Amino acid sequence: MEGFNPDGIDRELRWIALAFGGVSVPFVPTRDETLELVFEALQLGEGDVFYDLGCGNGKVVVEAARRFPIEKAVCVEARRELIEEARERAINAGVADKVEFIHGDMFKVDISRATAVYMYLLTSVNEALKPKLEKELRPGARVVTLDFQIPGWRPVRIVGERAGWQKTVYVYVIGESNRR
Ligand SMILES: C[S@@+](CC[C@H](N)C(=O)[O-])C[C@H]1O[C@@H](n2cnc3c(N)ncnc32)[C@H](O)[C@@H]1O
Repeated sequence: MEGFNPDGIDRELRWIALAFGGVSVPFVPTRDETLELVFEALQLGEGDVFYDLGCGNGKVVVEAARRFPIEKAVCVEARRELIEEARERAINAGVADKVEFIHGDMFKVDISRATAVYMYLLTSVNEALKPKLEKELRPGARVVTLDFQIPGWRPVRIVGERAGWQKTVYVYVIGESNRR
């Protein structure tokens, strides 16, 4: 899609979501074909503790738990109906023991166990989360964002890099991307 403009989308969606849902980002699931780019970026493996901040209906965490030998996937979501859907999805996929569900505000949830974090949010929300990511995540932890960058941080890798919705995935590494 031509003319994809993350800044304009950020402004519009933030206000719509706040007005109708009480949260700052609407629910838009990562598409199946985009999931492949996201997993290519995340490089999940043994021992990983993977968080999806604003996990929606749990599609990403459940697929991660199903496909990769990770230790744990953690789904953090503010909207109750979505976290319930995510729980159901994990049960149906047979990975309920590998996925943890947290119904709450991602700004208030301890993420210090995470070795890999996924965020499909907005630039403004990524910016607001920056101090938390820097404070709680250990050096070497990966932070992967879809479409919207983390302002002021340098991605170590960009996967996709094509114009349009859900085409670009940014990979950041704590200690490297945020070095001043
Ligand atoms: C664009 S959707 C992404 C859903 C999922 N990560 C995916 O990729 O399929 C963003 C999600 O973040 C959730 N969200 C927004 N603000 C939140 C907050 N402060 N704490 C927890 N979840 C939040 C929304 O309810 C929504 O489900």
